[in-house]
Amino acid sequence: MDTENPILTFLNGHASARQFTDQTINEDDERTIVTTAQRSPTSSNVQAYSIISVRDRLKKARLAELCGNQAHVASCPLFLVFCADLYRLSRLNETRGYDFYGEYTEPFIIATVDCALAAGRALQAAQALGMGGVMVGGIRNNPQEIADLLELPDLVYAVMGMSLGYPGRQPAIKPRLPRAALHFHETYDVSSIDTAVAEYDETIDEVGYLRGREVEPERYPDFNGLYSWSEHTARRMASTRKGTLRPHLLSFLQKRGLLKK
Ligand SMILES: Cc1cc2nc3c(=O)[nH]c(=O)nc-3n(C[C@H](O)[C@H](O)[C@H](O)COP(=O)(O)O)c2cc1C
Repeated sequence: MDTENPILTFLNGHASARQFTDQTINEDDERTIVTTAQRSPTSSNVQAYSIISVRDRLKKARLAELCGNQAHVASCPLFLVFCADLYRLSRLNETRGYDFYGEYTEPFIIATVDCALAAGRALQAAQALGMGGVMVGGIRNNPQEIADLLELPDLVYAVMGMSLGYPGRQPAIKPRLPRAALHFHETYDVSSIDTAVAEYDETIDEVGYLRGREVEPERYPDFNGLYSWSEHTARRMASTRKGTLRPHLLSFLQKRGLLKK
């Protein structure tokens, strides 16, 4: 890595922050975060997402509950909700009397990817301004209640939230998978995965951030191996609990007019 490059140094310093001081975020900085997010690439420039700022204390408290009782959602000075949005585009077609195929998988992917790219850039913009934050997928735990609370029209759903504020203390940087696990040349290389994952399990075990965070231990009474990233992640992928794989999402999205075809 080029450690001389200040932008790369900044990007590689990312760590999610979940604890904030009482310092508020001023409206100029809020606008800068949103306009910087808008500079993200977007599929065919359709810009199929919307961002809702929430500062109201009671609303943030309710959002915190709906996101699985995540305290930082209530305590952050600014909570952003990133929505995949095909509603705005549907209006263009409606006023012209054209068909609109918002129920197809492709526009769903377009809107969700656009939204995620904008969210990533928003977090970086906030960090560049000295803030910290964390994305909140917990917003998909109770998607209908979220849609009602934020008065989302059909063809819009909340992909993720983002708690933002000034971090009380600098969060630790979490190691990532060895590059060999996910970076291949010319073709996908299945053979390099297991070794790289085993190496990562050792690293994560040393860091210790998964200790005490076992997923559904009651389901795995006979497990006596190393509880590290691969065991944790495998259990998450085997869980249909509301806060994990969120099995309620398909019917919710279809009710919104999305992902039917
Ligand atoms: C789409 C998305 C949703 C996330 N949802 C949550 C969440 O609901 N609660 C939380 O504490 N962290 C959440 N995170 C943060 C991840 O847990 C975090 O990015 C990951 O553990 C890596 O840590 P780091 O960002 O500090 O490097 C989310 C991250 C992403 C990208």
